[in-house]
Amino acid sequence: MNKSKLLKIIIAIAALVVLVIGGYVYKDAIQSRIARTAAVVSGQEIKPLLDSESRYIRQIVAQDNSTSRTIMWQSDSSEVDAVIEYRLVGSDTTQTIRATDKAFTDDGSTTYIHEGTVTGLTPNTKYEYRVGYGNDRRSDWYSLETAGSSVYDVLIYPDSQSGDYSAWEQIVKDSAHRNPRTALYISMGDLVDNGEQDYQWRTWLNSIRPLSANVPLATTLGNHEMYTLDWKMREPYAYLNYFAVPPNGNEIFNRRYYSYDFGDVHYVVLDTMLYESNHEDNHDTHHPDMYDVEVQWIRQDLAANTKKWTVVLMHRDPFQYAFDRPGASRDVGFDDEGVLFMPIFDEFNVDLVLSAHLHTYRNRGHVRNFNRDPSGPLYILTGIAGDRSEERRVGKSVDLGGRRIIKKKKKNKKNKNKKKKQKIRKKKKQKI
Ligand SMILES: [Fe+2]
Ligand SMILES: [Fe+2]
Repeated sequence: MNKSKLLKIIIAIAALVVLVIGGYVYKDAIQSRIARTAAVVSGQEIKPLLDSESRYIRQIVAQDNSTSRTIMWQSDSSEVDAVIEYRLVGSDTTQTIRATDKAFTDDGSTTYIHEGTVTGLTPNTKYEYRVGYGNDRRSDWYSLETAGSSVYDVLIYPDSQSGDYSAWEQIVKDSAHRNPRTALYISMGDLVDNGEQDYQWRTWLNSIRPLSANVPLATTLGNHEMYTLDWKMREPYAYLNYFAVPPNGNEIFNRRYYSYDFGDVHYVVLDTMLYESNHEDNHDTHHPDMYDVEVQWIRQDLAANTKKWTVVLMHRDPFQYAFDRPGASRDVGFDDEGVLFMPIFDEFNVDLVLSAHLHTYRNRGHVRNFNRDPSGPLYILTGIAGDRSEERRVGKSVDLGGRRIIKKKKKNKKNKNKKKKQKIRKKKKQKI
């Protein structure tokens, strides 16, 4: 075989490989383009949406999920006549509401966000919905089930931030497959590794596809949602735009902390990012009063709560480990968030407190008044769902967490004396 013939064969194989890979990567876009063309050619009244018109169709929890639900999706171009259409399963009567058309630009990429909240639904009822534009372009129908008072399954995903999101993608796929009755899924924060990097959000939103269109999502703000491309900090713009969680009544902190009801459970989602909000590397407005405002809000929220069960979701763990904050004490105990919020959880008889951030799982048992007490809330550190394992770093301290609580109390007197001696020694040194 001569050289030019061999070269032609290599080029042909390379072109075939590019076609196959390209076809796989853009399979959704190709499929939607073919379906749309077929509908236009055959004169169908309703035309399916192109992939670029219907990205990441997702349900987000509303305040009361027995009667309402928020629907979001994105498109590559502005669509001013975005609508959400819904109906009872088996009914021909549909209702339509308008959805927003909001441009959001981040990391050099612009997307158009469409969102709307369907209200006035009947509890414990099966609906279906679809999204679209004007009168003639529509997505497929997806199921929307309102909450009732029966027991339901929830999937809880801790930190999914990843270098390569394939493990996270597989976790969502497997867990959704194993739990087909999932009524709600929760992200505990650090959804992505870098909150400004567009490809990470696109990958994340693609990964939740086994659940997103048919099951409502509740998110929690994590510190990684606040990181900029150069690993400084900012307001979590992408996070706040992508997840239209229920309003909290505060314009400055809207969507950062919130609450919602699902069945017999009242969920309170906290923003535990005071450290990041006021860090010198945060180039946005600092919010030193954030926890004051949030404490006022949570007290009002819990006072008005009439649900049988109360669950708190917070990204930062209320227990303290020395490695968590530079310069933090080596004492294992409670961090600022624990000291601030745990007495409120006690006062309002919270049942369960879920946290994340440390990339490991621990069941700490029940704690009240900073001591083991079966009458207190149950504290669970939820683990990890991405590929950023910190297990080695967490090490033994976490294992000792529960035991040290009790130990610490006994040691208090001893510690006080020790601290006194250290102070005296320090003063002496300063004098020298
Ligand atoms: Fe994390
Ligand atoms: Fe974190």
